[in-house]
Amino acid sequence: MAAKDILSFLASGDWVSGEEMAKKLAISRAAVCKQIKALRMRGYEISSSTRKGYRLTGTQDILDADRIEDNLKTLWLGKDLLIFDEVQSTNATALSSVHDSPNGTVVLAETQVQGKGRLTRPWASPPGGIWMSLILKPKIPLSEVSRINMAVGVAICRTVSSLFGLQAGIKWPNDILIQERKVCGILIEVGAQMDQLDYAVVGVGINANNSLASFPADWRATSMAAELGREIDRCELIARMLEEMESAIEDMNVPDIYEEWRSLSLTLNKQVRISSYSGDLEGEVVDLADDGALLLRQGNDLLRVLAGDCIHLRSRESRAL
Ligand code: BTN
Repeated sequence: MAAKDILSFLASGDWVSGEEMAKKLAISRAAVCKQIKALRMRGYEISSSTRKGYRLTGTQDILDADRIEDNLKTLWLGKDLLIFDEVQSTNATALSSVHDSPNGTVVLAETQVQGKGRLTRPWASPPGGIWMSLILKPKIPLSEVSRINMAVGVAICRTVSSLFGLQAGIKWPNDILIQERKVCGILIEVGAQMDQLDYAVVGVGINANNSLASFPADWRATSMAAELGREIDRCELIARMLEEMESAIEDMNVPDIYEEWRSLSLTLNKQVRISSYSGDLEGEVVDLADDGALLLRQGNDLLRVLAGDCIHLRSRESRAL
């Protein structure tokens, strides 16, 4: 008998007597009390009354390892699951233990106080979001890291579509957008020996149930809850995403993943500005290569761009209008 059985009794938010739960679960009243205590330790707010029993009062939106694992059918991704209330950054936590952690370890936190975005930007990480880092140790050359990026992006889009019927696309290199608004960012940090990948820490930040009120007004951001008009079950989304990620990562070298990533691209055929440490480039994206590079036409030149910050300018079609 686990605390999750008690949780399913309390899920409706109504009062349930300790005696009734004990009877139905064929356990003692003391065992019910023990499980209630364990649930409170995990963050659930449960009121108790000698006359009426127990009632779930606060949110049920808690990152709960039991509930994630219940939904999880993956074999290796998320087998080691670490959940924190608050960290500086899940990527930093993952990096600090990367050499002692098995392939597939997942770090989650309710909030991050110093969430890291791409290009050293801060990443706002209030409660209700999904702030997650995967530790991956595939035996691949460093030059193939973009394959991990493709697999993870494809897996997130697949999950959002299958679970919620929402159409998500990928803005190069790795922003996930719904209706042109950013719902998810990915930050990959790697370690290598010579040209062989040692590890990749894949940080995934998803606006799920978190408020967007504290986000700067000029960030075109959205959240899963804003798109659906209701709170989502974060534990279910995490479990389904990990399943899709595991399968896409296993397939990352098959051409289908690249083709799917390319077909999900919102950047292909767009007029863009790419900012990088070496300056700005503007042009039309005529293709995306299977190593993740963006092929940019600038006048008569065709440039390969491997990294940078991308801004979508007007598309060719809208210029023609
Ligand atoms: C981006 O700039 O778009 C990438 C954002 C990545 C944010 C995630 S949240 C979990 C992980 N931990 C971090 O500190 N950053 C990544």
